Amino acid sequence: MNRTNGNKPLLDNGDWAVEAHGLVKVFGDNRAVDGVDLKVQAGTIYGVLGPNGAGKTTTIRMLATLLRPDAGSARIFGHDVMKEPQIVRQLIGVTGQYASVDETLSATENLIIFSRLLGMGRAEARRKAAELLEEFSLTEAAKRPLKKFSGGMRRRLDLAASLIAQPPLIFLDEPTTGLDPRTRAQMWDTIRRLVQTGSTVLLTTQYLDEADQLADRIAVIDRGRVIAEGTVDELKASIGTSSLQLQVQHPPDIERAKHVVAQVLAVQPVVSPTVGKITAPMANPNRVTDLLVTLRDKGIELAEISVQKPSLDEVFLTITGHGVTEGEADDAKETEVTRA
Ligand SMILES: Nc1ncnc2c1ncn2[C@@H]1O[C@H](COP(=O)(O)OP(=O)(O)OP(=O)(O)O)[C@@H](O)[C@H]1O
Ligand SMILES: [Mg+2]
Repeated sequence: MNRTNGNKPLLDNGDWAVEAHGLVKVFGDNRAVDGVDLKVQAGTIYGVLGPNGAGKTTTIRMLATLLRPDAGSARIFGHDVMKEPQIVRQLIGVTGQYASVDETLSATENLIIFSRLLGMGRAEARRKAAELLEEFSLTEAAKRPLKKFSGGMRRRLDLAASLIAQPPLIFLDEPTTGLDPRTRAQMWDTIRRLVQTGSTVLLTTQYLDEADQLADRIAVIDRGRVIAEGTVDELKASIGTSSLQLQVQHPPDIERAKHVVAQVLAVQPVVSPTVGKITAPMANPNRVTDLLVTLRDKGIELAEISVQKPSLDEVFLTITGHGVTEGEADDAKETEVTRA
């Protein structure tokens, strides 16, 4: 996979932008966040990856002093979010918090107001607004009132607003959800640039390729808990060095084929009945020979077989235990297949 975030400053001074221990948030009888630990090193991009309802936004809101944790603690650059919220707020930017900007004002006017609120002079505010609108390809729409903006334009303006001050730590909650591919790539560039110029970014995403592209480290969260943490490569390695995918010629053979894979490779394969595919982690690609021989001996014909480096999708499926037989995971799998 193409990782392009190579030239960011390497900080190895043990400075933690975020240190959270045992964060808990309960809504009624729903433990939305159920004991989350996170450590984000200053100067890096940290990805929090999880499906809908995993607790990503709730976690960010607690770290950003917008929601009080029911248990646990968190520090931002050493400052406690509950005891020193004023200091913490000066160190962070959160996209989403500008959602309540004035709808009747134009994009330019909104950005100028934010700049002025941050203490910039009139000329500087105007210059900054123009610069950001240019960067986010919003120049043409600059004079339009916000209520006429599309969802993607709003997101871009939202990120632009949080860049006025360029705080040391920026929380981006699903920064590219719903964006077209070109705008998405633009966002990625901007996020990388933020880090190159000294900020730390904590972003949430449901897109595995986004975490893969951007993040130095990733926490995978599911049902309010961190279920895996590490670099992308570590996470991929945790499910074996390669992943086997095969499709049988005759769908009725699929259960027998699964059984053979389980026996020969000594692993737990996952079956996606809709597409008739079997996926299994594999430590040693050489074992494929044994597998093929056994399948032929049993008269099971294959339509397709491939051995690949595991994708982050597979990492997620493996550690969450949501097999490809579940609808949601099935979609993720298909996305990965078309992308590859
Ligand atoms: N203010 C609230 N009141 C009650 N329940 C809430 C509230 N905010 C979130 N929840 C619940 O907490 C859980 C976690 O929600 P959260 O928004 O943190 O998930 P998420 O990972 O951000 O999901 P998504 O990917 O959909 O944004 C969900 O079950 C959600 O319904
Ligand atoms: Mg969310």
